[in-house]
Amino acid sequence: MDVKSNTKQATLAVGDKSVNLPVYSGTVGPDVIDISKLYAQTGMFTYDPGFTSTASCQSKITYIDGDAGILQYRGYPIEQLAEKGDFLETCYLLLYGELPTKAQKEDFDRRVTNHTMVHEQITRFFQGFRRDAHPMAVMVASVGALAAFYHDSTDISDPHQRMVASMRMIAKVPTLAAMAFKYNSGQPFVYPLNHLDYASNFLRMCFAVPCEEYKINPVLAKALDTIFILHADHEQNASTSTVRLAGSSGANPFACIAAGIACLWGPAHGGANEAALQMLADIGSVDKIPDFIAKVKDKNSNVRLMGFGHRVYKNYDPRAKIMQQMCHKVLDETGHANDPLLPIALELERIALNDPYFIERKLYPNVDFYSGITLKAMGFPTSMFTVLFAVARTVGWISQWSEMIEDPEQKIGRPRQLFNGATERNYVPLEQRK
Ligand code: CMC
Repeated sequence: MDVKSNTKQATLAVGDKSVNLPVYSGTVGPDVIDISKLYAQTGMFTYDPGFTSTASCQSKITYIDGDAGILQYRGYPIEQLAEKGDFLETCYLLLYGELPTKAQKEDFDRRVTNHTMVHEQITRFFQGFRRDAHPMAVMVASVGALAAFYHDSTDISDPHQRMVASMRMIAKVPTLAAMAFKYNSGQPFVYPLNHLDYASNFLRMCFAVPCEEYKINPVLAKALDTIFILHADHEQNASTSTVRLAGSSGANPFACIAAGIACLWGPAHGGANEAALQMLADIGSVDKIPDFIAKVKDKNSNVRLMGFGHRVYKNYDPRAKIMQQMCHKVLDETGHANDPLLPIALELERIALNDPYFIERKLYPNVDFYSGITLKAMGFPTSMFTVLFAVARTVGWISQWSEMIEDPEQKIGRPRQLFNGATERNYVPLEQRK
């Protein structure tokens, strides 16, 4: 066990029995109580729907202090990485644990760009989708299908194959994402151009057309690169836990990442930026905000302020602060500074940060609140927002998956349950049933 030895113990009284449970400390963050022997000692499980108090693994990758609004990758604050670094450097950091030297960075960039193209037959695989297919549906299918094209990197017991699969996914997921976009808009696929940086290449694959010269806008490329950095990892969130759970059975890495993409699609997770933008459009104008806020507070309405609140951050999401600045830069650059949704977003933010309902529940804007407006100004349709999130998060999923495979304590994930269904009863033939 790779945790600081701890003399503390937790004592749990169960009926007339009392059990001592080991307590472990990480390098920072709350201690954890080891309950892995609890069932053997007491015949009882713990009950924690949504895993709000359960650490599912040990990890060295990402640290979040939700109360303080801190996010660090391998110890580096997200603010510093977003301001001074680039996305591929962040990928290296997440995968290998350290920032690369100049030579390591050049080698890593070269290795990633060597893998940007996808097998030509994948283009034909795309033809099977309806034109109006949601690009996330296409992503789930096409990333999963990579296992059918790259057999030589599916043996998870071979570290070399694991690394090749990792490089392939960091390099090919943007290519597939751009293809999903192009297919949906009826335009020809644009092949990657390897002398471009990661974000510029992605913008070009999405927005270039064969009949016109495409000029990279450096402000938009920098903004997209930063968005990728902000979304690269977020410790044991729902999609990452899905990737780890899928991987715990020994499934191949392409299948695991496809599972993560499927989970990310949900509106409570990666789909929230799409939902936040839709919400701003539905509100329509600043004067309608009070009515909308009243609905949000009404327990019977089921309406939530999308882009607000977070399972972990009970303070301002540090990524949201960076996104807010980025949003203004992109709107200025693209001439969307008069986007009617921006004043609605700003006024909603102002009201929510001052309203006791949101203050008491510690509901602050999350990263999705501004990312939707920013991506819209860049020219992406809402259906692509979660796809961009998936492109960025791929490296986080892979890093977490690799860490899990290399963990000597790793075993198949198998939660238990509190069963409260019917107890044993006898089968009744159809003709006798009432
Ligand atoms: N609007 C209004 N009320 C809210 C909201 C919201 N967005 N979020 C939570 N609440 C209320 C909720 O009704 C509850 O109130 P009460 O105590 O009176 O019953 C209280 O706050 C606690 O809510 P919860 O559902 O127990 O909180 P949670 O930590 O389980 O939920 C969440 C986290 C992200 C699912 C939720 O805040 C939410 O649905 N937010 C909107 C969707 C969204 O923006 N999601 C993106 C998350 S960030 C991207 C990512 O990392 O994937």
